[in-house]
Amino acid sequence: MNDEKLQATFNQQAASAYDSQWARLAPFRDALHLLASAVLAGLPADARILCVGAGTGAEILSLAEKFPGWRFTAVEPSAPMLDVFRRKAQEQGIASRCTFHEGYLDSLPSCEPFDAATSLLVSHFILQQDERTGFFRGIRQRLCPNGILINSDLTSDTDAPHYGALLEVWMRTMAGADLSQEKLEQMRTAYRRDVAILAPEMVAGMMASGGFDRPVQFYQCGLIHGWFARAA
Ligand SMILES: C[S@@+](CC[C@H](N)C(=O)[O-])C[C@H]1O[C@@H](n2cnc3c(N)ncnc32)[C@H](O)[C@@H]1O
Repeated sequence: MNDEKLQATFNQQAASAYDSQWARLAPFRDALHLLASAVLAGLPADARILCVGAGTGAEILSLAEKFPGWRFTAVEPSAPMLDVFRRKAQEQGIASRCTFHEGYLDSLPSCEPFDAATSLLVSHFILQQDERTGFFRGIRQRLCPNGILINSDLTSDTDAPHYGALLEVWMRTMAGADLSQEKLEQMRTAYRRDVAILAPEMVAGMMASGGFDRPVQFYQCGLIHGWFARAA
């Protein structure tokens, strides 16, 4: 997805509706955050965490509550999404522990390496595979040796015979009601056109090519898969 499309997708309206839309999937998200905090639990008490595609800050708010000494850098190209997060960070009293960077990772000023990074539901928006590998490489370059990346994406083998049935269950979960065939077809097209849903092995392979040791898949819920991996 190019910058223009991304700005249109995560515009003012989408940013204000984002959290309520995701409320239906809160159990999925809570499970991902719960496991992610277990993956990162061994980090120092003053760890620095890079959150790429922080959106409205869900993962930061969750981690900040569990680890009160950690500091966070939120990298987010959509100003409306970042504004929502900034407001929530102020309301929850964590703004002083956060750096808010409006833009992509390559424009983040250089700084001390991070102990860990998160990229939750972000890399699937990068349609070109070499760019997606470059995205992981960019994160790798910002981490300490042995630093940890947690990545999650919409992922599936879309050529597999089971994909149609899985997608329908996924769509129904998100829509929460009976879906017309027409609506289902529209969503299918949007997924094909705007989101790079690839087989789990391919996403893990791109993380590895980006400079991470063998990714460990620790999470799956519907189409969302999650991995952690250490900087090689
Ligand atoms: C689906 S939201 C996920 C937000 C948050 N991580 C969460 O789990 O709720 C994806 C976010 O990634 C951002 N994004 C998309 N492509 C990006 C990229 N290449 N680099 C950084 N952020 C990106 C979007 O602007 C959007 O806010």
